[in-house]
Amino acid sequence: MNITVVGTGYVGLVTGACFAEMGNTVTCVDTDQAKVARLNQGEVPIYEPGLDAIVQNNHKAGRLSFTSSLSEAMADSSVYFIAVGTPPGEDGSADLQYVLDVARQIGQHLDNYGVIVNKSTVPVGTADKVREVVAQQLDERNLDIAFDVVSNPEFLKEGAAIDDFMRPDRIVVGVESPRAREVMAELYQGFSRNHDKLMFMGVRDAELTKYAANAMLATKISFMNEVANLAERMGVDIEQVRKGIGSDSRIGYSFIYPGCGYGGSCFPKDVKALMHMGDEFGYQTDILCSVEERNQAQKHRLYEKLSERFADGLSGRTIGVWGLAFKPGTDDMREASSVTLINRLIDAGATVRAYDPVAMDEARLQFPDTVFAAGKLVLCEHQYDALADADAMVLVTEWKPFRQPDFNAIKKLLKQPVIIDGRNQYDPYSLKAQGFDYTGIGRDRLG
Ligand code: UDX
Repeated sequence: MNITVVGTGYVGLVTGACFAEMGNTVTCVDTDQAKVARLNQGEVPIYEPGLDAIVQNNHKAGRLSFTSSLSEAMADSSVYFIAVGTPPGEDGSADLQYVLDVARQIGQHLDNYGVIVNKSTVPVGTADKVREVVAQQLDERNLDIAFDVVSNPEFLKEGAAIDDFMRPDRIVVGVESPRAREVMAELYQGFSRNHDKLMFMGVRDAELTKYAANAMLATKISFMNEVANLAERMGVDIEQVRKGIGSDSRIGYSFIYPGCGYGGSCFPKDVKALMHMGDEFGYQTDILCSVEERNQAQKHRLYEKLSERFADGLSGRTIGVWGLAFKPGTDDMREASSVTLINRLIDAGATVRAYDPVAMDEARLQFPDTVFAAGKLVLCEHQYDALADADAMVLVTEWKPFRQPDFNAIKKLLKQPVIIDGRNQYDPYSLKAQGFDYTGIGRDRLG
């Protein structure tokens, strides 16, 4: 099939590259001409394992191209994915200006029947708005062309996006016409080899499914963080509790890892957007509100633990931080717990030495130059350099090279053998036996 994907951000690029990999001809459109030029050179602007190769191979094979002209891309295709950003507005609602702008342009160039697919995460009712905007453009052009608007939300995890796209748990398609349903079934035919992954439902059902999935996962995490904070006060090991409850198949082991808060581009934004939808529809989403509040507070836990440990203040102290990305496998630092921690440490007069396997360039953009110039934040070449003469080590992101470190080396480097583990990666009993002063999340008075 011939497909147009508008927006070459994370979702658009993965979607376009993966459809091309399945043998389709895909044109990706972006208004950023410099980005289009880079992509046409095979340069992928984001860090996502496996994406470079898929983009380059399919580009070479002529199945994937990039342009800044939507009309040029649309000339050959009849399926148009909208995958542009829906950033949160000041009140937390999703800003639809980019989505509706693309819809307007599609309406200006549509010449034959087309299926317009919302891939961006958009509030319930957006497909109706897209339909209105396209219809209005066709009216202005005095054209009577049939088209459909479909909702096909993505469930990609950063760091595993290719695999998630190629081997999805499910493909949710909100569609209201048999004609569009047929197009979508053909498009996704190759992804349902073992069993049928396609789930057809109403357009609004699909729109809410995306938010409900992310909000449910965020709820599991905030719930566990709350129980972990309680466990600390009770002298209980949350890791035992986690295993104990995860073994119940109704609960399951995934997304019940307590930690220093969830981050990234999706959970924080989508929970807030769903709360905002609640306001719009006259319903107070108390659970979502608590999930969000717990998460905000949880991002401060590492700082609080350090303040408790260094009761005489953090001013003048040096703290070594392992991990800056919001999770392993990505350089994304949006809403990362590391940012909250580092800002609070700097405000308290501490110096931070930090290391991340891939997010160092991103970190340079996240903090003002003055912080680097004043030596308040030092980005180190190696994970162990970050611990040199530090008063404590804090693990923020559980990258693999941090999971089984050389504790002898750590002990020699640190001024004091203090480890604050924001992701419960280490064994408190073994660390205590090695002479460390160790604190995890929900496992405080152990060992
Ligand atoms: C998420 C959804 O998983 C994905 O389906 C959706 O399309 C986009 O949002 P992503 O943001 O890439 O994906 O990250 P994810 O792996 O879900 O992790 C989100 C955050 O939750 C991370 O900060 C992670 O550290 C945290 N987390 C995750 C926990 O604190 N505990 C857990 O048990 C799981």
